[in-house]
Amino acid sequence: MKTRTLTPDLEIPYLGFGTYLIADGDAAAVVRAAIAAGYRHIDTAEGYQNESGVGAGIKQAFESQGLARSDLFVTTKLWPGNPAWGQAAKTTESTVASLDQSLARLGLDYVDLYLIHAPFDRDARLAQWRGLVELKRQGKARAIGVSNFSIHHLEELKAAGLPVPVANQIELHPWSQKPALVRYLNDNRITPIAYSSLVPLSTWRDAAGQGSAKTDAMRAEGEHEDAPFKVMARKYGVSEAQVLLRWAIQKGYPVLPKSTHPERIRRNAEVFGFDIDDEDMAAIEKMDRGDGVAWATGDPTKAS
Ligand SMILES: NC(=O)c1ccc[n+]([C@@H]2O[C@H](COP(=O)([O-])OP(=O)(O)OC[C@H]3O[C@@H](n4cnc5c(N)ncnc54)[C@H](OP(=O)(O)O)[C@@H]3O)[C@@H](O)[C@H]2O)c1
Repeated sequence: MKTRTLTPDLEIPYLGFGTYLIADGDAAAVVRAAIAAGYRHIDTAEGYQNESGVGAGIKQAFESQGLARSDLFVTTKLWPGNPAWGQAAKTTESTVASLDQSLARLGLDYVDLYLIHAPFDRDARLAQWRGLVELKRQGKARAIGVSNFSIHHLEELKAAGLPVPVANQIELHPWSQKPALVRYLNDNRITPIAYSSLVPLSTWRDAAGQGSAKTDAMRAEGEHEDAPFKVMARKYGVSEAQVLLRWAIQKGYPVLPKSTHPERIRRNAEVFGFDIDDEDMAAIEKMDRGDGVAWATGDPTKAS
């Protein structure tokens, strides 16, 4: 399994498995299938309400495949609470309690990476980050980071004299490349983790009720025979999804493809046997359209 160094003593596998929109009751079987297909990095969150199912799938995989806890990299995320949506913002204390609850649901003693899911509340962000620092000290999170943070939010942590996060999980794909933020992350040794890599596919969150903010025009774009990722997929003898995932890995971003279909789960994992050439990487660089679409409610980095 190819990895990127997250901290001096922790490697993060480039290939992760995403679990957003997988119901708790389905998660055990899907996660077990992903681990059987070779994924060694699982991404969940308090907010996905599926940590129990994900944990059950991990436990079943340990037993059926003889894996040890150290064979798997597990990420979960603090739901910080958003006062703008009528939720109480978590404090340092309730942040510490939240990971204890996540660990109980997951059936684990520690996670490899714990993230603040989004920077909702200005006053609460620093308190929550202090909670994550404490959880790292207690050994309940081997590494701590953030998600959906902008340069401004990261500078805020630095200005408070707090440790810098080791990762920022953000929407990253050819249509949302965020060059200034990625440059900042690389300059500050913060690993960018890519989510929603498959947005350019016409099938991305196309099931009813999945809250996709994609427009019909965007969907139609993926359907033409000469759509750029179709052309590249034919050239390399892979699927369009594999091209999108490979692009991210060549940029140095761990990826988190989600699927509930066994065949897609298996093929999405086959991303190390080919290289996108320089010409195609340069063509993809010109496809950037700015902000992402994954949060149907809007860009959380602009929530405060
Ligand atoms: N930190 C955050 O705020 C945040 C936000 C969004 C996502 N994430 C994380 O990142 C993960 C991935 O992002 P995501 O779930 O938004 O989207 P994604 O993994 O980019 O795409 C998933 C969508 O693409 C479809 N799909 C998957 N493989 C396919 C293939 N080979 N061919 C055609 N369609 C395919 C899936 O449908 P089927 O399931 O029907 O196959 C689903 O609709 C999440 O699950 C979550 O763990 C984090």
